[in-house]
Amino acid sequence: MDSGLETLLAELYQEGQRNDTQEQERSKKMLNLEPETAQLLSVLVRSGHRTRLLEIGTSNGYSTIWLAWAAYAVGGHLISIDREAHKQELADANLRRAGLRDVVQLVQGDATQIVASLPGPFDLVFFDADRRSAPAQLELLLPKLAPDVLVLADNVLSHPDEIADYLEAIRHLSAFEHMVLPVGKGLSLAYRSGSV
Ligand SMILES: C[S@@+](CC[C@H](N)C(=O)[O-])C[C@H]1O[C@@H](n2cnc3c(N)ncnc32)[C@H](O)[C@@H]1O
Repeated sequence: MDSGLETLLAELYQEGQRNDTQEQERSKKMLNLEPETAQLLSVLVRSGHRTRLLEIGTSNGYSTIWLAWAAYAVGGHLISIDREAHKQELADANLRRAGLRDVVQLVQGDATQIVASLPGPFDLVFFDADRRSAPAQLELLLPKLAPDVLVLADNVLSHPDEIADYLEAIRHLSAFEHMVLPVGKGLSLAYRSGSV
């Protein structure tokens, strides 16, 4: 990653932290991913040559830029969903600043409705939005996952009650190996190998 993009990401993260400290209304908080989690996602994309990515929860595009940069490195593409139009406008501007706008399709609306209409296939899905609707979204996505796929979700350690149903659902998928990584706010990682 070049120093210009590193600087932009650091600025966005700091601005998000500052905003979230001052902002009382939850829908106006940025709630950006922890930098080490974002970096891990980018490593997973690049090391696994994952090219068909889906992110649920764009916010102002902080994690989206990390994923888009990784996708660009392997010739891939990312779809990112958020229900807040004003956040996706910020993400649009931030992706342009990053020079990565062409790598990302931003889709605004309710994630459950949108995933129902997406054709897939996806070889990496990242859940970072409404944890309570994530199980329904997972079920809709199952037929749209590539045989070899990573399914990730943030906030396992920070919001254990809210994410419990999602974890229960993913642990019942016998074709997937599942683990929780104590990075950032806790990352659920489920992997299905296409070859086993
Ligand atoms: C934790 S923030 C995403 C942070 C982002 N991934 C980042 O690291 O910058 C969660 C986002 O999900 C969006 N969201 C929550 N529930 C949603 C839903 N049901 N459909 C679409 N977006 C949703 C919120 O508007 C919010 O911007």
